[in-house]
Amino acid sequence: MPSPVDQATNRRHFLKFLAGSPLLAYGGASAFAGEAPSKLPDPMLWAPQNLEELIKTPKEAINVFDFEPVCRKNVPPAHFGYMASGIDDEVTLRANREGFLKFQLRPRRLVDVSKVDMSTEILGVRYDTPIVLAPVGGQRSFHDEGELAAARGAKAGNHLQILSTATSTGVEDVTAARGAPIWYQLYATNKWEVAQAMVKRAENAGCLAVAVTVDRSGGRNQETLFRLRTGDKRDCNGCHDRSSLQASMRTRAMYQGLDLSGLRNTQASAMTWDFFKRLRDTTKMKIVIKGILAWEDAVIAADNGIDAIIVSNHGARSEDSGRSTIDALPEIIEAVKGRMPILVDSGFRRGSDMVKALSMGATAVCVGRPYIWGLGAFGQPGVERVLELLRTELYAMMQQVGAPSIKHLVPAMVRRA
Ligand SMILES: Cc1cc2nc3c(=O)[nH]c(=O)nc-3n(C[C@H](O)[C@H](O)[C@H](O)COP(=O)(O)O)c2cc1C
Repeated sequence: MPSPVDQATNRRHFLKFLAGSPLLAYGGASAFAGEAPSKLPDPMLWAPQNLEELIKTPKEAINVFDFEPVCRKNVPPAHFGYMASGIDDEVTLRANREGFLKFQLRPRRLVDVSKVDMSTEILGVRYDTPIVLAPVGGQRSFHDEGELAAARGAKAGNHLQILSTATSTGVEDVTAARGAPIWYQLYATNKWEVAQAMVKRAENAGCLAVAVTVDRSGGRNQETLFRLRTGDKRDCNGCHDRSSLQASMRTRAMYQGLDLSGLRNTQASAMTWDFFKRLRDTTKMKIVIKGILAWEDAVIAADNGIDAIIVSNHGARSEDSGRSTIDALPEIIEAVKGRMPILVDSGFRRGSDMVKALSMGATAVCVGRPYIWGLGAFGQPGVERVLELLRTELYAMMQQVGAPSIKHLVPAMVRRA
């Protein structure tokens, strides 16, 4: 093992190298640094990072990281910056990757893993794998086909897709493209009638669940976005109407036709647990809470009959807490005692990352940025290949730890380092 000093020196060289790259100019380096597992030893540096060696087709990709610089090349700097950004010093962005190093696998041998069944039931529906597409807003800012391309990519691998309130395309069209019911993610806003109308619309479109995001109640300092935006010379006003909140929301598919008078906030800073009682009376869909990080909240959710939670720090886009979700997961699983399914996201990039969470007892793992890198790089084929790589890595890792099916992934297969 290299000493910590060696690692720090290597890291500095790495960042210097990235900063010198025209592709990963200032700001991009910090964005990438957040994604690169900074404490992993040198082999990570072998991945191609310069312009000449970018992959030209999805098939060439060796891992999901290969898509990020291609996405960076294709996507407007402000949009890329929005996607890549964490908060403040991006400590949580790094923690989401480095957190996996705090846990080690304990593989079992001499188990027949010549065939592995990755199929998973999530809220009563069986999917081919526990890999879920996390809700990501405004996907047409990464590729013209946006959420439709993501839906078709999800369909190819039979993945559950969660559609953002901030989707560029309406829930009906995305559901049709996916060819199966999806989940709808809700930003409740300050106005109940807006939330209610969106929930009804999602239910009418056949959505199975509404995932209410509860971790975006304040403003946020997205410095990578702000830095990259200054280098974006296009006229943003052509697409973004910033004259008022109402005007800017009217361009969003899920706000069409709604009375937006009195809308002051697209998130919901005033939301409390009472909201969920009201929501339960409004919809027959399953209710999921996205953004839980403390076991106390998980217990309240279970006590209140919430159907599932997603342990998430919003891909390090809510508060710069310094804590990864893989670190938060064990205390939550222990406290919930199997009373509801627990999904998890933020920083999942590898089969081994997923195996760690699933062994701890998570039901499924959501991924955000990786499929957006695929989308921005190559559209639908990029999304498909990212998901295929994740499936391939999960399959191989399940074989390696000796788990022929998801139920064979047990807590004894993972330990705190
Ligand atoms: C560009 C971008 C937009 C996002 N938009 C939403 C959103 O509209 N609603 C939401 O609940 N989460 C949103 N998220 C958070 C994701 O659902 C998910 O929690 C996060 O991306 C997982 O972390 P990862 O990107 O490291 O995989 C967004 C994330 C990104 C990167």
